Amino acid sequence: MCGIVGYIGEGDAQEILIDGLKRLEYRGYDSAGIAVYDGEKLVIKRTKGKIRDLEKILQKEPLKGKIGIAHTRWATHGKPSEENAHPHRVGPIAVVHNGIVENHVELRRWLEEKGHTFSSETDTEIFAHLIEDRVKKGEDFLEAVLWTLKQIRGSYAIAVINENQPDRLIGARSGSPLVLGLGDGEYFLASDIPAILSYTREMIFLEDGDVVELKRDGYRIVDLDGNPVDREVKKISWDPSMAEKSGYKHFMQKEIFEQPRAIADTLTGRVFTNSGEIRFEFFNMDEDFVRAIERITIVACGTSWHAGLIGRFYLEKFAQIPVEVELGSEFRYRDPIIAKKHLVIGISQSGETADTIAGLKAGKEKGARILSICNVIDSSIARMSDDVLYTHAGPEIGVASTKAFTTQIVTLFMLALLLGKIRGIVSEEEVKEKIERLLQLPSFVEQVLKNDDLIENIARKYYRYQNFLYLGRHLNFPIALEGALKLKEISYIHAEGYPAGEMKHGPIALIDENMPVVAVATRSSVYEKIFSNIEEVKARNGKVIALATQGDERIKSIADDVIYLPHLTEELNPVINSIPLQLFAYHVAVLRGTDVDQPRNLAKSVTVE
Ligand code: AGP
Repeated sequence: MCGIVGYIGEGDAQEILIDGLKRLEYRGYDSAGIAVYDGEKLVIKRTKGKIRDLEKILQKEPLKGKIGIAHTRWATHGKPSEENAHPHRVGPIAVVHNGIVENHVELRRWLEEKGHTFSSETDTEIFAHLIEDRVKKGEDFLEAVLWTLKQIRGSYAIAVINENQPDRLIGARSGSPLVLGLGDGEYFLASDIPAILSYTREMIFLEDGDVVELKRDGYRIVDLDGNPVDREVKKISWDPSMAEKSGYKHFMQKEIFEQPRAIADTLTGRVFTNSGEIRFEFFNMDEDFVRAIERITIVACGTSWHAGLIGRFYLEKFAQIPVEVELGSEFRYRDPIIAKKHLVIGISQSGETADTIAGLKAGKEKGARILSICNVIDSSIARMSDDVLYTHAGPEIGVASTKAFTTQIVTLFMLALLLGKIRGIVSEEEVKEKIERLLQLPSFVEQVLKNDDLIENIARKYYRYQNFLYLGRHLNFPIALEGALKLKEISYIHAEGYPAGEMKHGPIALIDENMPVVAVATRSSVYEKIFSNIEEVKARNGKVIALATQGDERIKSIADDVIYLPHLTEELNPVINSIPLQLFAYHVAVLRGTDVDQPRNLAKSVTVE
């Protein structure tokens, strides 16, 4: 996610803003910028790269002033570059933004027809043009911002400065966080608490639709119609380290709980219920190629490979294309049969995994088209691909991948629908229905996260065991694999994911009271089969933790512990089913005292073979 800081007061704006950006570095970014009014004019400095690169520029030309805005950019629209870095300026207006403008294409076209010329690839620049368009006609600064926000569809947290009104700073939020810090004759805006915690502990958490105007002698919060809004001032007691994790104990925990927002951001601007339209910014495949695709090979590692196993179901069902899912470390040494009508899909959170890069290169050398699903804009894998579908999960700091996984699945679902629609396999009606279900996913995930205390209690019962078996079938077999990987990589317990149907071919010999089994037994076309597997485990004194669908009373009679989950659709429930397994692994690891965010021997991105 991008980082925003704003300041108005009697202090050194540059110092306060840069300090604030540094305290937001944990959020991840690829460029940085600052705008300060120096008493006569608005001066902007921006750079691709890190805050230290921006500081080098500022050392040569320090900005002297008492009001300003600053930004660290996590690119979503437009590659990391100086031109795309924020603040974006049009005339006297400069804006920094965190979020996604869903209708930026339409608004950009409208503005260009009115004679506006754009200098960046970003959606953010839209704000500066719209506000400038209004103030140059004499509209009041705040009114111009309110009007602009009513044109926007999507998510935003913005800070806006006007060279012609240097005693006013405006902030607003809808869908992306923005905090107002209250000082003595000075005020702050920030994406997150850490940025301003060293200056004030008096904060107001703005809510969706809030717009705040800051002056040195006070602030006022209004809604989009200009009506006054009253917000409670909160006293923040966190220390800086806790603040970086928004109060969570670990980044992994924070990222598990960010998944509703991460999934929503990944869907925003891409699927449209009314029209059944599905669109991706950097999808360049022409329809003739799509219709001619003979086979898809998915190449990935670890959790991303598990997402690929789920994607196979979607692609074969919605687009009727044969799919193989390969581990990068294996695929790179095969001499794969790849032809021009093959599509190779790379899935990678970091976009830097050496084995996946090597596998994709193998496909590219044989003439296949490369499409990648990445979470990091302009990463190596993104750059080597013909098409890139970005998950908008925001930076994933914890080594154990969580929100990247669920947003990868969602992206694969959208891709499969898009290909199936072009190939005439899924009807317009089916697409609209599936999009409607897909858009319900964030709220279903929100519901599932409410099981956290129950799952922590179950973790207390089992955290001392040394071995676990995770069982699933069909779409839930990859979820069993993923649950086992989560547990083993952060708690160091040996955990194995297995297709439940394979139990009788060997693993059932492992079952006794020392080998707890986690069974993904939610409602599905193979429910009776997995239910039988649970009975087989119980008949051998095994202990079973079952994931089940709300209302399933039968399973209570055989499982030792049950985690009940809502049912959305069989196709989308793997996303829902993965959440309790993330939480279970997290709580077991915390109870075992391991380093949850940086587990031993592991790196967040495996850039070596
Ligand atoms: C998952 O929790 C692990 N951190 C690991 O398996 C990871 O998924 C794998 O290294 C692939 O990383 P990537 O998605 O960045 O390519």
